Amino acid sequence: MCHLKSLLLALSLTLSSSYETSGYGPVFEEQPVDTIYPEESLEDKIIMSCRARASPPATYKWRLNSWDIDIQDKANLHYSLMGGNLVISKPDRINHTGNYSCLATNNFGTIISREASVQFGYLDMFSTEEREAVRVKEGQGVVLLCAPPPHFPDDLTFRWMLNEFPIFIPMDKRRFVSQTTGNLYIAKVEASDSGNYSCFVSSLSIAKSVFSKFIPLVPQTERGSIRKYAADIKVKFPDTYALVGQNITLECFALGNPIPQIRWRKVDGVLPLHHENSLTGGLLHLFNVQYQDEGVYECEALNSKGKDWHKANLYVEAAPQFTEHISSSERDIGSDYTMSCITSGKPKPRVHFLKNGQMYGKHELRFTDLTSDDSGMYQCIAENRHGVIHANAELRVFVGAPTFEFNPVKQRLLGAKNGRVVIECKPKAAPRPTFSWSKGTELLFNSSRIFIWEDGSLELLNVTKSDEGRYTCFAENDRGKANSTGFLTVTDATKITLAPSNADVSVGENTRMQCAASHDSSLDITFIWSLNDHVIDFDKEKEYYQHTISHIAYSYSGPPGAPGGVRVEEVGVRSVKLLWSHGTDNHSPISKYTIQYRESKSTDDWNHAVTSPRNIEGNAEMVTVVDLLPWTEYEFRVIATNTLGPGEPSEPSIKTTTLEAAPVVAPSDVGGGGGTSRELVITWTPVQPQYYYGSNFGYIIAFKPQDTTQWHRVTISDPRASRYIHKDPSIPPATKFDVKVKAFNNEGEGPYSLTAVIYSAQDAPSEAPNIIEARTLSATEAIVWWRPLVQRTVEGYQVRYWRRSMENEAAAQRISSRENQTRLDNLKPNSHYVIEVRAFNGAGYGPASQRYEIQTKKAPPSRPPKIIGTRLNTSGTLVNVAWQHVEALANESAVESYKVLYRQEGQSTGTLYTTNKQSIDLPVHKDGDYLVEVRAQSKGGDGAVAQVRISAGGVLSAQSLSLCVLLLVALLSLTL
Ligand SMILES: *[C@@H]1O[C@H](CO)[C@@H](O)[C@H](O)[C@H]1NC(C)=O
Ligand SMILES: *[C@@H]1O[C@H](CO)[C@@H](O)[C@H](O)[C@H]1NC(C)=O
Ligand SMILES: *[C@@H]1O[C@H](CO)[C@@H](O)[C@H](O)[C@H]1NC(C)=O
Repeated sequence: MCHLKSLLLALSLTLSSSYETSGYGPVFEEQPVDTIYPEESLEDKIIMSCRARASPPATYKWRLNSWDIDIQDKANLHYSLMGGNLVISKPDRINHTGNYSCLATNNFGTIISREASVQFGYLDMFSTEEREAVRVKEGQGVVLLCAPPPHFPDDLTFRWMLNEFPIFIPMDKRRFVSQTTGNLYIAKVEASDSGNYSCFVSSLSIAKSVFSKFIPLVPQTERGSIRKYAADIKVKFPDTYALVGQNITLECFALGNPIPQIRWRKVDGVLPLHHENSLTGGLLHLFNVQYQDEGVYECEALNSKGKDWHKANLYVEAAPQFTEHISSSERDIGSDYTMSCITSGKPKPRVHFLKNGQMYGKHELRFTDLTSDDSGMYQCIAENRHGVIHANAELRVFVGAPTFEFNPVKQRLLGAKNGRVVIECKPKAAPRPTFSWSKGTELLFNSSRIFIWEDGSLELLNVTKSDEGRYTCFAENDRGKANSTGFLTVTDATKITLAPSNADVSVGENTRMQCAASHDSSLDITFIWSLNDHVIDFDKEKEYYQHTISHIAYSYSGPPGAPGGVRVEEVGVRSVKLLWSHGTDNHSPISKYTIQYRESKSTDDWNHAVTSPRNIEGNAEMVTVVDLLPWTEYEFRVIATNTLGPGEPSEPSIKTTTLEAAPVVAPSDVGGGGGTSRELVITWTPVQPQYYYGSNFGYIIAFKPQDTTQWHRVTISDPRASRYIHKDPSIPPATKFDVKVKAFNNEGEGPYSLTAVIYSAQDAPSEAPNIIEARTLSATEAIVWWRPLVQRTVEGYQVRYWRRSMENEAAAQRISSRENQTRLDNLKPNSHYVIEVRAFNGAGYGPASQRYEIQTKKAPPSRPPKIIGTRLNTSGTLVNVAWQHVEALANESAVESYKVLYRQEGQSTGTLYTTNKQSIDLPVHKDGDYLVEVRAQSKGGDGAVAQVRISAGGVLSAQSLSLCVLLLVALLSLTL
């Protein structure tokens, strides 16, 4: 027992240690991103993403403002984990605003993600106070203030409307809307400017727009000629900070009569190459800003009355970037190691290191004499005020007995007679092992001809045939030892037997130079020609040189060996140039090469590559591989074939990613429509990831009302997005829109999808239906009729009803628009009900009808009739069933008559009789058992039931309520 236990223990130890070496520490595949959650969002949750590749799989934790979030906390139902993602349900501004980071941990260590903020976006309504009218003389300039309502974040765009929706004032030389203040500037007022103005504010990040009360503008006509005013700059761009690569816009606008001309210049140089002056002059766009664009910019406004100018600084800074960063590494115990990160950015980024998520040091990390404790996950973090970047790496300190598993001594070694041979010995081992060598059983020592290098390699000089034999390298450290053996064969040295001789040649003539060599028959031979020390490349220079080899001896024949030195050059979007060198042809000339590729990400097998030229001759050492996908990581290998078949493939090339390209695939199935009021819902099928073709993939959605020409464009950066809802109070309801969608990535934009025609959401019905009548049917049922609406957009009606003063318990039914009545049931007896009806459609409910009130009837009698006798007539053809009158209780409806159901046992239907009497004659059937069911009938409905059974030829038993009645029936049947 005890033995078994220790055996198991040993087994589990070896298992866990081999597990350790096969796994790896976490590597982020997805990190949280800054999120703005619209306070009015219906989503009701925020998902912060976090996913790490790790083996064994990572466990996740989250922090909010550097405090650990306790997911397990039963008192806090807001947080839950979904994989590594943090789900914040029912988010609120007070408790959930802040910076979140995710920690991924496995037994190799911990890494911490970038911090991502959660903020609550809002855009309040404009104040409802009336705006004062603005009176201004014709010819003067005017500024209409927008004064946007409280909002977050500060990413508003401003437009102005004149008189009606949704007509926006275009910007021209006379009119300007500042995207900084939102104000509308009119350089020189004209009589036609008269009207009502409203500032229309949209928040991009929360997709909401609001607009102000109208501001009346009243131009006042001057008697005589209109006065002139000197240029006066009113919109002055502030000192501005831009990041390298950004696009920025400077604003400048002047009032004046005549309308001033705006001119831009850079005070300390020339305007950047990539600038654009808006047609109206008031905007200077700078694209892809660079450090050298920093400086003082000036705008000048000029008219015939005078000029004005304004200057401000543009500062160009940059978010941090790594020019060199840490990467995962395995180092031997006891060795030295330095981790450093070199960054660029302005201001200069601060750098610090984390180990397993904990602060570990600044600048660079220098390890001397690594120990196992230094293993772990390291992160280098660089930050300035424009951003934070992380580089993550695993450091693994290797300690282990020597092993030749990955790098044994070469088994077949060749040495040339009188030459020099170096046999490498590179076991994996830490600490560094000591080395010794043997030939056969004889231990080798350093001598004039034999030398054991520091790194373990064995060098033999002036090799002779007697050096042939088995060489074994022994490596040993404090953890253990290992050895590995190879066999050295000594061959005749290659000698040139026929050297090219000098030749005099006339210009334009061909000549032939000969070279021959003797070589060991077990070896291949390669001839290299050179001209004045320059090696002739027979492929490139084949116009001038031709190369022929005649083989004299064949010893071994077979398919060719593996080509070597495969490398990739000239990486393109869909092609790469592949180069290799010939392997041995095993004495049968190589007839062709084939190229294979595989995508590094997929686990697929190797595929045949398409090349240009399509067929690769046996003497080629280069080809272009075509028909690749952009932005995809590939490996390539080369296979040589001769008459004896294809040989071994080469080692794969290093992984190479093709260049990015603009997408070419358009999203499909574009459509949409519906939604709630003032919405345009656009849907599409997202593009498959293999067609992203580049980083920063997303969608551009373009839409416009069908009768206009101006497309709206919206950009969505989520590659998996499949729907976009445009909310805009100015969208006309139930209107045809043209929509189309295209993909974009870093390299540009793809083609648009086909244009689809969809409808914007309709408005909720605007009219209320009228209730014609409502009537109670019983204690629990009522019926209600209403006059249907003629509006086309009505999809149905909702009938709400509730007991008076209990509206919070109202019940509701939805009825199709084809009906104009419905039955209400499950009402409470003897109760006062209120009913109202309204129309609805996809956009919501219309106004409610006037209310209608009804009183339900009292409940039907709760007690069943008491059956007092069943009697056959003398001929035996009729049976008379009699019962006692039922007295209604005070809260029950009075009995008006009785209902008698006469049915065969097992059937649910039969013959129904109604009678005012308290007995009934029923026909007797010849065979089968029949049931008679009697109940009182009242305005409140049918009362409780009493039952008696009639058997063929007579009465058998009653199944009424009391035992007493049963006995009575039994007695009766006895007497029969
Ligand atoms: C914030 O969290 C506290 C404690 O969980 C809770 O009592 C409070 O109601 C929350 N605030 C809001 C606005 O939900
Ligand atoms: C800058 O503007 C150009 C041209 O409109 C656009 O292609 C580019 O994507 C913009 N760059 C950024 C960083 O917004
Ligand atoms: C090896 O051979 C070279 C020339 O053949 C000679 O100069 C040299 O001394 C020899 N070295 C030894 C160690 O025999």
